[in-house]
Amino acid sequence: MSTTFQLDTSTSRANPTPAPMRRLTVPAIRARKQDGRTAEPLVMLTAYTARQAQLLDAHCDLLLVGDSLGQVIYGLPSTVPVTLEMMANHGAAVVRGSYHAVVVIDMPFGSYEASPEKAFESAAFLLKATGAAAVKLEGGEAMAPTIAFLSQRGIPVMGHVGLTPQAVNVLGGYGARGRSEAEAAKILADAKALDQAGAFAMVIEGVLEPIAVAVTEAVSCPTIGIGASARCDGQVLVTEDMLGMFERVPRFVKRYEDIAGVIDRTVARYAAEVRARAFPGPEQTYQPKG
Ligand code: KIV
Repeated sequence: MSTTFQLDTSTSRANPTPAPMRRLTVPAIRARKQDGRTAEPLVMLTAYTARQAQLLDAHCDLLLVGDSLGQVIYGLPSTVPVTLEMMANHGAAVVRGSYHAVVVIDMPFGSYEASPEKAFESAAFLLKATGAAAVKLEGGEAMAPTIAFLSQRGIPVMGHVGLTPQAVNVLGGYGARGRSEAEAAKILADAKALDQAGAFAMVIEGVLEPIAVAVTEAVSCPTIGIGASARCDGQVLVTEDMLGMFERVPRFVKRYEDIAGVIDRTVARYAAEVRARAFPGPEQTYQPKG
C-alpha cells in the first residue's frame, strides 16, 4: 500500500483527523512507470459517493468516478444515458470524501466525441464542478487528437481501450475484445496513439491477456487493467462488483466479499425485530428524565 496513514472514518470530513496528507498527483501517477516498468502496481477502484470515497481513499492510488454509476447507482441498462450533471454531482461527492487518491472522472457518452473543443468544454465543466484532477474518455485512434488537445490545455486525460462500454451499440455486447488478429492489431494501434497523444495512463478493458501484455510493453504510460492481465501496470474494478453487491458479475471480477448477503441477512433481522416489536429496545428509546 502506498499510503502512510489510516483515515479515521469516524471523523467528519469538515474536520479530518489525522491532518490530511498531500493528495497524490497526476504526474506522480505517471511517474510510477519508469523505463517500461512499474515496481508497485497502481490500485484504482470506482467510487460514486462521499462515504464510499472515505472508505476507499487510504487504500487506493486513484479513485475513478466511473460512468458505470449509470448501471450501479441508477439502474440504467448501459452507460449511454449517463449525463454530465450526474457525473458532476457524484464527482464532487467523491472529491469531498477523499484527500489522498487522485480522483479521475469519466466523461459520459455524447460529451466529448464531436470535437476537441466540445470535449474541452465538457471536461472543464467537470473539473470545475468537482475538483477532480483528471478525466477519462473511451476510444482509440479517433480520440487521439482530442486527448492531445485537452492535455496541452491543462486537462490530464486517462484513455480507455479494448472493450469500451459506451460503444455497446456498435460492439453489440460486452464480450472480450481482440479475438481476431485485425482486432488485436487495432487495440494495440489505439493504445499507441493515446500514449503518443499524451494520455497519462490508460484503462485496458476486456481483452485477451496477450494483448494487454503487448500494450503494456508498447506504451510509456501506465496501463490499468480490468479483465486484462496481472501484468498491467495497475488494476481497477467496480467497487460494488468486488464487494459482492451483485450476484451476477462479469467473469473477470473477483468477489472478495458477499456484501449483498450481509445486507440481506441484516435487513431480515431488522424486519423480524420490527414485526415482533423487539426494535426499538430500551437502548434506542428516550424516557422522561428523573
Ligand atoms: O465506468 C467505469 O467504471 C469504468 C471502469 C470499469 C474502468 O470505466
